[in-house]
Amino acid sequence: MKFHITTFGCQMNVHDSQWLARALTSRGWEEAGEDEAQVYILNTCSVRDKPEQKVYSELGRVAAHLKRDENVFAAVGGCVAQQIGRGFFERFPFVRLVFGSDGIAGAPNALERIAENLDDRVALLDFVTLYEEREPPSETVPVADETRQAFVNIMQGCDNFCAYCIVPYTRGRQKSRDPEAILAECRSLAEDGVREITLLGQNVNSFGLDKGGKGVSFAQLLHSVAAIPGLDRLRFTTSHPKDIAPEVIRAFGELPNLCPSLHLPMQAGSDRVLKAMRRKYDMARYLSIVDGLREARPDISLTTDLIVGFPGETDEDFLQTLEMVERVGFESSFSFKYSDRPGVAAVNMEPKVPAEEAAERLLRLQTLQNNITRKCLKNLVGARTDAFIEGLSRMQEDGAVSWKGRDPAGRIVNVVMEERTGLTGMMVPVKIVEAKKHSLVGERAGQPW
Ligand code: 5AD
Ligand code: SF4
Repeated sequence: MKFHITTFGCQMNVHDSQWLARALTSRGWEEAGEDEAQVYILNTCSVRDKPEQKVYSELGRVAAHLKRDENVFAAVGGCVAQQIGRGFFERFPFVRLVFGSDGIAGAPNALERIAENLDDRVALLDFVTLYEEREPPSETVPVADETRQAFVNIMQGCDNFCAYCIVPYTRGRQKSRDPEAILAECRSLAEDGVREITLLGQNVNSFGLDKGGKGVSFAQLLHSVAAIPGLDRLRFTTSHPKDIAPEVIRAFGELPNLCPSLHLPMQAGSDRVLKAMRRKYDMARYLSIVDGLREARPDISLTTDLIVGFPGETDEDFLQTLEMVERVGFESSFSFKYSDRPGVAAVNMEPKVPAEEAAERLLRLQTLQNNITRKCLKNLVGARTDAFIEGLSRMQEDGAVSWKGRDPAGRIVNVVMEERTGLTGMMVPVKIVEAKKHSLVGERAGQPW
């Protein structure tokens, strides 16, 4: 059976799709291009803007394939599936499976069943209270690809109910995975040649603090994973500032393979807005975390998420966001205009910020961010580091071969080298020679390892 997966949204969705692809491959299915598949899987995201529309238009594209093959069918997974649920069956008769993020473990078997009986319709929408282990791929499906990077889930869901956020409604309550299962997966990845692992969860800093907890804190988990032989780089995402423990901050100074970068969503720079957002920290606390991180690891690169135009945000509040972005000196940030999501607390908060006003604020914020990003990258010119090569760059220089890698902080470093193959998954010592708008250019300064 040939399948095609389209993924929207966060790294958790990307990872879920990778797992699903491997689980189906283990069953003898084959991943195929958009024009050849019989089964179309959409893994959806509803965190911002008009996500349902995106999914509907994607399903419209799938419908066109019915002309080629009347047995074509679709599965919709992820946050939009959780929200709309069986509603998809009514609007799109060729949708045979809907599954939420808690239902994904059962999706491969459900797909197999449906492929045998095309009249079946399956909805996997129940929330679970404990993390459900997912089947590992069969021996014949390689876990590590040649990039030698992998994601590992450590939890699912979120208990925070930030006033703007739909995640607790679509991904359910926080469920930590068994630390032993996490370690076993990390060890087996490292044995298969993986050199970089990113631990994933909606709020990794509260790992273990739910029903699934086994008395292992996130800091302890970091120490155990970092000790796995062969693991050169360890990352994690995402962190909530209110839950970051002093031990996690210190770990940045203690664990040499814990990468010097942290994505720490600030959302807003005004205490009043943070309170309305129900973020449960103020800027004094946020800044003290930043100081602690820089003390532990002076070269740490900080990135963040920001929302402008949250209900009730005044010009004065917004100016405080600008001030804080400058003060922390985030290397980059994702910034969004607030948008109402169904069922979240902020829907009922007033006054709403007019769309033009929010758009203007977003533009000002992004202009400031671009200037800071430029300065941060410029400061790195002349530095020596290792680029972990992910493959050939999209942009090729005339005649030479340009490779794309990442430095330990995750910045993109493009390096021109003579080799045309064989460098993916290698560390190449480089000297940074140029800063572009969002990336660096390096010159090879040693033997790949
Ligand atoms: N409106 C705008 N941005 C949002 N985010 C989450 N919900 C909303 C919303 N309703 C942003 C937050 C979060 C990121 C993943 O998406 O900044 O950190
Ligand atoms: Fe959403 Fe807040 Fe949970 Fe992040 S911590 S997923 S913003 S509710």
